[in-house]
Amino acid sequence: MEFILYEQKGAIGILTINREKALNALNSTVLEELSTALDNVNLDEVRCLILTGAGQKSFVAGADIGEMSTLTKAEGEAFGKKGNDVFRKLETFPIPVIAAINGFALGGGCEISMSCDIRICSENAVFGQPEVGLGITPGFGGTQRLARLVGAGMAKQMIYTARNIKADEALRIGLVNAVYPQEELMPAAEKMANGIAKNAPIAVRNCKKAINEGLDVDMDQAIVIEEKLFGDCFETEDQKYGMAFFLDKNKEKVKEPFKNC
Ligand code: CAA
Repeated sequence: MEFILYEQKGAIGILTINREKALNALNSTVLEELSTALDNVNLDEVRCLILTGAGQKSFVAGADIGEMSTLTKAEGEAFGKKGNDVFRKLETFPIPVIAAINGFALGGGCEISMSCDIRICSENAVFGQPEVGLGITPGFGGTQRLARLVGAGMAKQMIYTARNIKADEALRIGLVNAVYPQEELMPAAEKMANGIAKNAPIAVRNCKKAINEGLDVDMDQAIVIEEKLFGDCFETEDQKYGMAFFLDKNKEKVKEPFKNC
């Protein structure tokens, strides 16, 4: 692939958007390759993904402005759909995805991070939805996901003013969970990913599904979604082993890795 790097490290996978000369801006090829890279993740082995950008300066500086500059209305809508389809694939990917935001996360960059389950960033990270300054709306989910994450008032302020915010403010408003010095970001992301990967995989996947699907419906329906996914864990090898391990009073025992079955 030209613009996506993928590395599997044990039970975690690291996807890197690698278009450093354009600050990892998302053109059609990047979006297509990202979709293919997700299709190629070995879900029998990998239990958590990290998404990051190449270099020390930018996570993703947005959708490619050069590519968008000459689009017609219909082409603009189709480009939005192309981004939204990939971001939705990321959002509904069966295993958790951590965005390790290592610099600019503007426009489509902020939006792709919001399609991930968890966001952590480096101290030099900058977030924003600059689209109205370019004469467009956020088009890869920003008008929807930002309000759901930080509340409608703050999302509207960020989107209408097109003002960028720094890492500390992103932390304060709940857009990211933690801020690290640049050199500590990837180690922290890998530590978190490995921590997730050591838990029972079916249970983790079901938690992701329950949280995501439950947020889209009212509480009565949400609780039914949870009940089904809770029930689905029973009779799995992992549930039997996890509970038997807890109930075993032998203090010398050592916990085996979960088997994903
Ligand atoms: N699209 C295409 N190219 C981009 C880009 C983008 N979004 N962001 C940066 N680049 C390119 C620049 O054109 C430049 O290329 P050249 O070297 O060939 O000139 C290269 O990356 C380096 O960028 P700068 O020289 O501008 O770097 P800087 O350090 O001076 O500034 C920056 C960094 C503040 C991030 C600035 O590049 C910038 O403002 N970028 C655009 C950010 C933006 O508006 N993003 C939103 C895009 S719209 C969108 O995403 C719509 C949507 O929701 C789908």
